[in-house]
Amino acid sequence: MRKKIIGANWKMNLSRLEAESLYHEISNLGELNEHVDLVVFPPQPFLGLLSLNAGVALGAQNVYGPEIFGAYTGETSLQHLIDLHIQNVLIGHSERRLYFNEHSDFIGAKAIAALNGGFQVFFCCGESMEIRENGTAASWVEAQLTSLFEQMDPKSCSALVIAYEPIWAIGTGKVPSMDEITEMHGFIRGLCEQYFDTPFADAIRIIYGGSCTANNARAMAQLPNVDGFLVGGASLSYSSIQEIIASV
Ligand code: 13P
Repeated sequence: MRKKIIGANWKMNLSRLEAESLYHEISNLGELNEHVDLVVFPPQPFLGLLSLNAGVALGAQNVYGPEIFGAYTGETSLQHLIDLHIQNVLIGHSERRLYFNEHSDFIGAKAIAALNGGFQVFFCCGESMEIRENGTAASWVEAQLTSLFEQMDPKSCSALVIAYEPIWAIGTGKVPSMDEITEMHGFIRGLCEQYFDTPFADAIRIIYGGSCTANNARAMAQLPNVDGFLVGGASLSYSSIQEIIASV
């Protein structure tokens, strides 16, 4: 039985005071967050601050994997995260792929470095509306995942979380149908089995992201291959993230 997992991706939002206050509230959810693994991904400058009073697990929205130190202006090293006792990283988010031109090879290298370094990696994949409409969403997602799988040591499987985030659903209020989510999550699990083996495929957590709210989370959480959510906008409000946690 896979334990559900929820990532709260705050993206580039919240002031310092708002971030501290929301993190404090989420950390005090008590037994509500015991049945689910929770990871908060705050804006990078607040990681150090929040890690001083760490409650809920923290994660970095981005990391520069391949090198530990060096002349990489503006980047965060895995070693910096280790120093802050942070064990989670988000890699391959469509916003990084689109706005910062991160390509598959670079994303794969970052993910492998983080997995080999003992981090839990939330690896994002997902298609645009154009790709969905031309019927190639599955092969698109397959290519994104196999660029990682080909380099991956299956022993690091328990530290991989796959986040299926259709780009057209992010921040739009549009959500795929239950059938579309079922089909894609099943496809991803099948791919894991094909590349590795059944125990790997059974263990890996596949989560959904894209306009996940307190209103739609409960139904999606019932689907057989949905092991949690990566939540953007709705994770910025205490009441909605609390309801989402309660609904899985
Ligand atoms: P929204 O929940 O705001 O659609 O964002 C999803 C997302 O990109 C999480 O990483």
